[in-house]
Amino acid sequence: MTNNKKTILSGSTVTGDLTLGNYIGAINNWKQLQDQYECLYFLADLHALTVHQDPKILKERTYSFFAQYLALGLDPQKNIIFVQSQVHEHAELAWILTCLTPMGYLNRMTQFKEKSEKHVKNINAGLYTYPILMAADILLYQADLVPVGEDQKQHLELCRDLVGFFENRYGNGILKMPEPYIGKMGARIMSLQEPDKKMSKSDENEKNFVSIIDDPKKIEKKIKSATTDSDTVVQYDLTNKPGLANLLTIYSVLSGKTMKELEADYEGKMYGHLKVDLADLVVETLRPVQAKYSDLMKNKDHLNSLMAKGAERARAKASSTLKKVYDSVGLL
Ligand code: TRP
Repeated sequence: MTNNKKTILSGSTVTGDLTLGNYIGAINNWKQLQDQYECLYFLADLHALTVHQDPKILKERTYSFFAQYLALGLDPQKNIIFVQSQVHEHAELAWILTCLTPMGYLNRMTQFKEKSEKHVKNINAGLYTYPILMAADILLYQADLVPVGEDQKQHLELCRDLVGFFENRYGNGILKMPEPYIGKMGARIMSLQEPDKKMSKSDENEKNFVSIIDDPKKIEKKIKSATTDSDTVVQYDLTNKPGLANLLTIYSVLSGKTMKELEADYEGKMYGHLKVDLADLVVETLRPVQAKYSDLMKNKDHLNSLMAKGAERARAKASSTLKKVYDSVGLL
């Protein structure tokens, strides 16, 4: 029954904060995906180690992300949700793939170049081999589809190259060729201060995003100080009023109102009015999520047990792939 469903796999590095952009993507996609696909979601804590992490904060953030996924409505029965480091096969397959990866391919990775410029004091080999671990994440589960943003496309390409190399060398069809998943575009939520770029969870300027667990005061402040133009007419105009357009998009998604309705509601009113109302709407939308979140965070035993169950279900798949890989490369 579930066997003919395609597998979709999505990973999130455990850094930064989940944002309103993640919220909107989540509510738009998760429910629909879980019926159509076999869905795996994991928290990439091993990937997080490629930059300096305070061990305590990393642990806390891993719980926090996991709890936020659940609070946002991701169903741990219908989906497999797990923590990367709790499935040891990831690191193991990564090693096998490392031995198949030409250095030249890694040298081309633009994210490595960017990150090593940003973290000049910590250009570690993990930063360099990061895309190989990502390939292992994907290939262990025979994923058909991987939703990837622009910044991860090159990494998925490398993963596809590795499937080719493996096949050339060992030729037994063990690894499945993954494809990028281009979701039915939900709304694209942009940065609050720089509306020409995406709202990102790892943005250094926290004024650029609303975090799912920001308190109401902070949310209000961030939305009120969002960049808008100097005009006064509330009108959806992506080219000339990108900041306002972004606020209207958020408003429209959260309220279910069309742009036309919103424009009519705010005819003759100032941007300030809209910002106050939008801040309220965001606070009220996130309230139940935050309540559920803080309940979940109070009970780490419960979270640990859900994580363990997720890891166990993931491992059942991962170990079967790894066994075949070990055998075909000549490991006893
Ligand atoms: N590198 C991805 C990011 O930073 C996270 C990630 C790790 C991932 N492993 C993955 C995404 C496997 C998709 C598939 O966004």
